[in-house]
Amino acid sequence: MSAVVGLRAGLRSDCLGAPLAAPRVSWRIVDAPAGASQEEAELRLEREGEVDTVALDGSGQNLIDWPFAPLRSRERTVLAVRARVAGEWTAWSEPLAVEGALYEAEAWTASLVVASASAPHRTRPSWLLRAAFTLAEAPVRARLYATAQGVFTASLNGAAVSDEVLAPGWTSYDHRVRYRVHDVTDLLREGGNALGVELADGWFRGNIGFDGGLWDVYGAHVGVLLQLEVTGPDGVTRIVPLDDAWRAAPGPATSAGLYEGEAHDARLLPAGWDVAGFDDSAWDRPELRPVADLAARLEPAINEPVRVIETLAPVAVEVQPGGRIRLDFGQNLSGVLRIRVDAPAGHTVTLHHAEVLEDGQLGTRPLRRAVSVDSFTSAGTPATWQPRHTIHGFRYAELEGWPGALADGDVVAAVIHTDMERRGWFACSDPLLERLHENVVWSMRDNFVDLPTDCPQRDERLGWTGDIQVFAPAAEFLYGADGVLASWLRDVAAQQGPDGWVPNFVPWLECGFPSGASAAWGDAAVVVPWTMWERRGNRGILERQWPSMTAWVDHLALRIGPDDVVAGSMELGDWLDPAAPPEDPGAARTDRYLVASAYAVRSARLVARAAAVLGRPADRDRYDAFADRVLAGMRRRWLDDLDGLAHAPTGLALVVEFELARDEAERQRAGDLLSTAVREGGHRVQTGFVGTPIICDALASTGHLDDAYALLAQTECPSWLYPVTMGATTIWERWDSMLPDGSINPGDMTSFNHYALGAVVDFLHRVVAGLAPAAPGYREVAIRPSPGGGLTWASARHLSPYGEIAVAWRVVGDELSLDVELPAGVTGTVILPDGTSEAVASGSHTFRGAAGAAREETLR
Ligand code: BGC
Repeated sequence: MSAVVGLRAGLRSDCLGAPLAAPRVSWRIVDAPAGASQEEAELRLEREGEVDTVALDGSGQNLIDWPFAPLRSRERTVLAVRARVAGEWTAWSEPLAVEGALYEAEAWTASLVVASASAPHRTRPSWLLRAAFTLAEAPVRARLYATAQGVFTASLNGAAVSDEVLAPGWTSYDHRVRYRVHDVTDLLREGGNALGVELADGWFRGNIGFDGGLWDVYGAHVGVLLQLEVTGPDGVTRIVPLDDAWRAAPGPATSAGLYEGEAHDARLLPAGWDVAGFDDSAWDRPELRPVADLAARLEPAINEPVRVIETLAPVAVEVQPGGRIRLDFGQNLSGVLRIRVDAPAGHTVTLHHAEVLEDGQLGTRPLRRAVSVDSFTSAGTPATWQPRHTIHGFRYAELEGWPGALADGDVVAAVIHTDMERRGWFACSDPLLERLHENVVWSMRDNFVDLPTDCPQRDERLGWTGDIQVFAPAAEFLYGADGVLASWLRDVAAQQGPDGWVPNFVPWLECGFPSGASAAWGDAAVVVPWTMWERRGNRGILERQWPSMTAWVDHLALRIGPDDVVAGSMELGDWLDPAAPPEDPGAARTDRYLVASAYAVRSARLVARAAAVLGRPADRDRYDAFADRVLAGMRRRWLDDLDGLAHAPTGLALVVEFELARDEAERQRAGDLLSTAVREGGHRVQTGFVGTPIICDALASTGHLDDAYALLAQTECPSWLYPVTMGATTIWERWDSMLPDGSINPGDMTSFNHYALGAVVDFLHRVVAGLAPAAPGYREVAIRPSPGGGLTWASARHLSPYGEIAVAWRVVGDELSLDVELPAGVTGTVILPDGTSEAVASGSHTFRGAAGAAREETLR
């Protein structure tokens, strides 16, 4: 019997504090008869005891426009959906509570409580804030609307109000300050209550950025904004007045910085500070600032919170000659250690972190200024502690000063990142390729800590636009990345210059990096929203980002020289081409202006397509005309003589993948030249950030699947699998972040956890396994397995907006067998290696055919 599941309003899974007053509604249908899809649907909304039901014709079930009157601030509603499938109505879905956030600035009346107005530029301590208050009766409902300038945790009567870590995360606070809404009903009681907060610098005023970084980027103070609202048995909602109740005192962290780490002295945490009845007469009255200064920038968070997602026990524990205890967690991760320690008062345990070992020591040089050392000083009672105001990228840790022997469970690694839904999986018969895929999954996890970053460990951790520009399709397959990306894109738009300039990382910091926009980086403003449309059918993101997308392409028009190609601008080019000298990673085999011009064509074409989706034919024509103009310039300058690109694999791959060829014959010629270059290069990687994500596609789509497989199978450096053979558990920034002799690349920029070069997994999903979207949101799919490379089987699964799509193929002898599973609402075309094709509807299907290009011998 069909059923409606996975009901959402907006992008987050919960709807407490719905980010939009008219959130878009999505659901999935499971257990439908084969070939069936939704014929019509009903949405039912209960509000104020009234029930409103709206009928929807047709099969729409993804990001449907809110068909009711918009939510009012704080309004509580309950949504349910049912669908008619194969002539029968499903039961109503599980109801979803959808509650309005605070949509008007005037809804905020609480003050910003400033714990520390300014402090010297060095790693600074945390602060405690408490507000004691009395409630005449236990509330029937209570909400805490919470954010901070700094990073904070909050509790009511000693119990945490949420399990969020590093709240409120990082946005361009000058433009956007996100808050979350917590249901705190069960934490309050009649009589005395206390609200407690620990607050530290975080991104707001801590040291962030490279080359020395910056202090006080968003302000010299730290503060919290907490509006507590209680509803009594009389049904009336009141804001609890806390202004006079707030008291502040220095916190137990004697220093806390995102890069530096945290030093916690448990002796400084007064017993009972966070519950009612505590004597806070010696505490200071903090400064209160009017919320009006902030209110216009406040917005409910559209992405999921950052949480501890899992804990890992060490796989190896070893006492070092000097007495330190070294732990290997077997996995490079973003997070902190959680320790259980019993030591005399005043005893300090120090925790060191590193991604790799070198010469038998923690390899901390790649961390640059990110010291990444935490310490815990005991109050003399057994304690479990993990830092609250910092985060590290590490696989190894060393404990200094551990009291006695380490018992099982005394130390675990808490893995921290945005709590996204897992949506994509890949497996195949080659364990090295599987490990490569797993490494990409980990690098995504480690770098989706509230915003998409380049790396989680050194003094950087910035929202580099180029990295997510190339990685977005992989991200959208692997996880529910929409919330993180949509939130970050708002900052991209907010920080765009009046001439459409897009910073190279967002939020942008003036910390010494050239401020000129660069192709492939700034193009994130176009490519990321487009990818969200392509992969999730998210039309709303195109509507919202349209001004930002077009401003970027209009900006590109300013960079076009007299020859109609990009000229003279600051360009990062095919960044980190292995042939580029270490001191100039942008000096790649492929001309950086060819890369920039190709991206100008690409982004203009995508904006033209977005215009078509949004019903803007004049804009479509205008942006297509711009693309045509730059393409004509590119032809005159580079493409009329394709042989001139023979030694520039990225250039050739761009011709194939960015539709730069005049016709199919020219495209094929570019593919053939690329194949030759790849062979002459011994199937080792010869591309950087721009070429690497597309080279396998360029080869496979021009009949050189064998070359793509040979590149993938390569284990000599530079290659995707070289790091895997070196024991990598994440994707490295450089192909040779670790040299074959086990030493760390001497370059100043050597991370072991960058997802960008892992963008190739999208090829594993779409081409190797053969699961590709053929219409936005996987409404239609192209199932086209590509056996080869000695693989005997491969499979991919993806939780699309309509449900799980699964593809699995196996080669036995000359025969290929293929299993396909499509959810209700999805149709597909299956194309077998022998060229036969067949249309398929939802349900399970099995095919058999000649394995075609499949080869039994392995390429290694
Ligand atoms: C970052 C990269 C980034 C690059 C561009 C590096 O420091 O880690 O991933 O895209 O700079 O300049």
